[in-house]
Parts: sequence; C-alpha cells; structure tokens
Amino acid sequence: MTFKRTLVTTALPYANGPVHIGHLAGVYIPADIYVRYLRLKKRPVLFVGGSDEHGVPVTIRARKEGITVQQVVDRYHYLIKDSFERFGISFDVYSRTTSKTHYRLASEFFRKLYDEGKFIQQTTEQFYDEQSHEFLTDRNIRGECPHCHSEGAYGDQCEKCGRTLSPDELINPYNAVNGNPLTKRPTTHWYLPLDQYQSWLEDWILNQHKEWRPNVYGQCKSWLDGGLRPRAVTRDLNWGIPVPVEGAEGKVLYVWFDAPIGYISNTKELCDAQPEKFGKWETWWKDSSTRLIHFIGKDNIVFHCIVFPSMLKAEGSYILPDNVPSNEFLNLEGDKISTSRNWAVWLNEYLDDFPGKQDVLRYVLTANAPETKDNDFTWADFQARNNNELVAIYGNFINRAMVLTHKYFGGKVPLRGELTDYDRTTIEEFINLKQTLEELLENFRFRDAQKAAMNLARIGNKYLADTEPWKLAKTDMSRTATILNVALQIAANLSIAFEPFLPFSSAKLRGMLNLAEDADWGQLGSIDILQANSELQQPELLFLKIDDDAIQIQLDRLQRIKKENEIQSWQPAKVKEPTNIDEFAKADIRVGTVLECEKVKKSDKLLCFKIDDGMGGRTILSGIAQSYPEPEKLVGQQVLFIANFPVRKMMGMESQGMILSAVDADGKLVLASVSRQVKNGAQVG
Ligand code: MF3
Ligand code: ZN
Repeated sequence: MTFKRTLVTTALPYANGPVHIGHLAGVYIPADIYVRYLRLKKRPVLFVGGSDEHGVPVTIRARKEGITVQQVVDRYHYLIKDSFERFGISFDVYSRTTSKTHYRLASEFFRKLYDEGKFIQQTTEQFYDEQSHEFLTDRNIRGECPHCHSEGAYGDQCEKCGRTLSPDELINPYNAVNGNPLTKRPTTHWYLPLDQYQSWLEDWILNQHKEWRPNVYGQCKSWLDGGLRPRAVTRDLNWGIPVPVEGAEGKVLYVWFDAPIGYISNTKELCDAQPEKFGKWETWWKDSSTRLIHFIGKDNIVFHCIVFPSMLKAEGSYILPDNVPSNEFLNLEGDKISTSRNWAVWLNEYLDDFPGKQDVLRYVLTANAPETKDNDFTWADFQARNNNELVAIYGNFINRAMVLTHKYFGGKVPLRGELTDYDRTTIEEFINLKQTLEELLENFRFRDAQKAAMNLARIGNKYLADTEPWKLAKTDMSRTATILNVALQIAANLSIAFEPFLPFSSAKLRGMLNLAEDADWGQLGSIDILQANSELQQPELLFLKIDDDAIQIQLDRLQRIKKENEIQSWQPAKVKEPTNIDEFAKADIRVGTVLECEKVKKSDKLLCFKIDDGMGGRTILSGIAQSYPEPEKLVGQQVLFIANFPVRKMMGMESQGMILSAVDADGKLVLASVSRQVKNGAQVG
C-alpha cells in the first residue's frame, strides 16, 4: 500500500496540570521530529494535538485548587499550548475537547453507534452518596483495605500495599471528598462489546501489524490473550459531554470515549477554517490512502490499539491507525515522574530557568528517549550532554569553521581546489547520511537518527582537528581554502540533518550561512550546497556551556520536593511491645530549668545543658544541636529529662540523664516541656 498523506496525532494531555519532560520525551518530541522530517521530504502531513479536558483528573484538580473545572481547563490548556509552542512542537492545530466542534462530533459519533445498535445497555448497582446526590467514580471512593486493613484505600487501589481493588471490596466505603457514607443504587450505562471485536482485532493486530514496536505488539497480545470484555463508554458525572440519549440525564460520555474523537474534531476544526490550505477533514480521516500514526505513552496503548480502533470499526467510515509508536516511561533522577507528587521537570519552569535552551532539552530527551525501555533523566547527564556534545562537538566545529573563514577569507566561502584522499575519505563518511537518516526516521528510531546526525558533527570536528587549517594558513592558502570549503559544506549539511531534532539551532545556523530558511532535504550528502564566494554572517555560538551552579539549583529543588513529600506521607511509628506498670514506673522523669546551654566543641550534634533540677543541678548532653542552632535561646525554658538514666561519658564529658524530645516529620527534634511553670525536680508520670 502506498500512502499519499500522513496524519500524525499525539495523545491529548489532560488539562489538569502543566506538561513535563516525560510528556515531551515520550510523545511530543518524537512526533515533532517525524512530522518535521516528512515536511522536509515534502510529503503531505497533518500534525494534530489538543488538550483532554474531561474526565476525573481535571475535576480532582479543581477541588484541590478550590476553583471551577472550567477555570482549571482554561488555565492549563493555554499553559500547555504555550509550552508546546515554545519548544517548537509544530502542530498544525492544537485545540481542546471542550470545543463546540468536538461536542457536536463526539455526540454524533455516539449517537450513530447507539442508533445502529452497536452498544449494549446494562444496569448495575453502583455506590451513591444520598446527601450530595451523586454516583461516585472509583477514585472518589475510599475505605479500609481488605488486604492490609489500612484506612483510606482508594476504590481502584490501596496505596499502602499496592493491591488493585474494586470499590466493592472496600470495608466501610465513604465519599473521598466529603466523608459521607455510601449506599448503592442501580444505574444504566452503555457498553462497547469489545468481545465482539476480539477476533477481528486478533487478525488486524497480531497478523497484519507484526511490524509494530515489540512493546506495543506485546501489550496488545496480552490484552487479547486475556479475552476482551464489554467496556462502559458512559459515566455518572457532572463534567463531560452529555450522553445524547433521552433519559440519560446526569450521564456523560466516558473521557476515553470522547478524547480520541478529539483527534477528528481538531482536524475538522482546522480544515473547516482553512480548507484551501488543509483540504477536507474527511480526506484525512476517511480516505484509505491516508496513513494514520498515533504517538502515545505506554499507559495509552490499550485505548489506541484496541478501544479506539474498535470504535472506528463500529462506526465504519474511518481509517484505522497504521502504526502506534508508543514509548516507555522516562524517570527523573531514578524516581517515577508524578504530577501529584510534583516530581517532574515542568516545561514552563524549564523555560524560565533555561531561557533559549529549548534545543538542549530536545537533544537530551531524544538522546535518552525511552524507545525500548524505561529511561532516566538526570541533571548530571543533561549538563554533560550539553557541555561535551552540543558545545564541545557540534558548536565547536561550527564556530571554528565560521571564525577561520572570517579570519582568512573575509567571511566569504572560499573556493575549493583539488580534494586530497583524506578529504574524499571524510566526504565518503557522510555521503549516505540521507539514506541512513531516512531509514531510521521511517522506522521511528529517533534516538539512533539523532546519533547519526551528531556523528556528522563529529566528522566535521575531526576533519578540522586533523587538517589544522589554522597552521596551513601561514604557508598554503589554497589548501586552507579547500579545507574550509569542505568544512562549511559539512556545516550546511548539519543545518539540514539537525532540522527535525534541533529546529532553533538549525535556523540559527542557516542564518549564519545565509542559507534559505527552509532546508532542502535533497541536498543532504552534497558538498555543493554553499556557492564559493557567497557571504557568511558573523559567527554566533550555537550552544553555551551550562555551569555547575545552574545544575545545583535544579538538584536542590528536587531535594526540597523529596523532603516535602516525605513530610506529606509521614506516619507515626508502630507502637512498641506492651510493657507492664512495674517496668514503666522505673523510669524517673523530672522537670528542670535550663541554666546554660551551648554547643559541645568538635561535635556538630551535641548540646551541653546545665539544668536546675531542684536537687543541686546536673549536666546533660543531648544530640539535638542540628535542631537548635541558637542554643543560648533555650536558657530559662523548662524541659523534661530522665533523672535515673545511666550516666554516660561523651566527648570527654559526663552526661547525667537524658532530655526528652519529639521527632517531627522533617526529622527535626523538638524539646518536650510542661504546659505551665512547675517546681524544678517535679516528677512526671
Ligand atoms: N489524556 C490522556 C492521558 O493523558 C490521553 C488521551 S489520548 C486521547 O493519558 F486519545 F484520548 F486523546
Ligand atoms: Zn492495602
């Protein structure tokens, strides 16, 4: 099958928070590289994105922030759209699932399947809050875990023991939002009978799409092997697209039913607005010579490979995806990226912290793309790839070639004389770059493709290092001219090869070389891109070194977040084995007043307390210096201490007792005391 055009979609991010590096690495950068490549090849392509504004996640966010759901989706839709734009993700359209077009299209889609009897209708008993008059989604139900008996397990999962749950298993379920007890009420929903599509899917995926990435193919196979069951496509919720059926008040389309239809709606919105430029939307979605590619993350595989295709098949007039290049996950400094735990590098924050360095992040995320397995983003690696690769290889090569040309040839491309064998070997090395890149890009191997582009920069760098034109310039100007001509041709090649990956740097480089804004992919591999004698602009650095301080700021921020998360999830320690009264009564706890308090020399933990214990005074050493940086301020305070604690020697001093303190969630020690002044030496018990 030869395709005439390609429709590229990217998963619609939930408008419940900003987007982070995991989104960028997993979905948007690979899709953008692919689309930019197709455009360079002059193949018709449409790049569709948008925000997913329905579903439970946005409603939870609204509740958390104390604003309306509409305010949430408005805020994040524009924030996300802006981040994508600034990173050069070159969507033809970026719309939203709350658009009028989408409401109409999604409703019509549902209605058609409904009218044609493609759904089954089922009534089941679901949890209901009689006071707030609402059915609850799994995530909004909490209760005691039937396995580990911890309180506050969710209706879909217990976060303590990690087990998957259904709300029915919870002991004493309640409404997570207001704590109300729950009853059960019957409710009717519409289901897409996926079981009826099972054998068709098996043939379509397992036989006809063996070329899909192993992770995608494997996940589909395991779903299919497990046997498909009907899936509800409606929900009892007050946020979403109303179910367009009489008597379905209070019900909306399930977010995973409406969101993928958003790809179609957004295409329609664009084509209807600019038909002369983009043609009819139906051409993109209903003509079998269109190739449809979904870029997604791995948690979206089942929806894009099984559920959405079944919906399209049921509808009957749409094409099906030709490929679904899904990535695995990107971790951050060894931990899973998490929006709720704020464990992420947010794109809007990155842009504030590293202005103008979009390409650096694009480069690093592609170099580490989780194409075949989960991968890790670390700031150390980010810095190293910038300094040792972008700056030291690519940037250095371009800068040398430019500066030398200005120095010896007045900023004009010098005339190339006869090539030496060494020149020819160098050129041989990249003559096939176009083919190499094409093969890799067509197969969604973006990591290796970028490596191949970088290899050309290495070739250029080595070429200048080996031929040393700055030395030759003293004796042999015509040889120098030839070398710089070849080097500049390599630079021109780099501006083309890197365009899909590092569009901002390519544009800058093409500006310096006075090349047309649009790169000509057909010229890749040629050494006649730049005409002899043509003028160059002044050299500018393509990349700047990133110093340790900038990296440290990021590491400190993550440290802080880790601490905050630990405090958030703090739990009291388990109570020790039961003791008996006699044993307990042995401890003699007393009240005393601090007379003096200072740091013990050469120790960063110990404070030395002089205590008025009502019995002539005593000295006690206590390891709380970290928590009390100004010990002299404790003078005059009453504290509790164990008076019959064994006397111990520490740092050459005698400690006559033990001062009591509590350990807070952040590890800080807080001195225990009495709630009003009592006599020194008073007993506690
Ligand atoms: N919002 C979903 C997520 O972030 C992705 C939706 S993709 C679409 O996981 F196909 F439904 F649009
Ligand atoms: Zn549990």
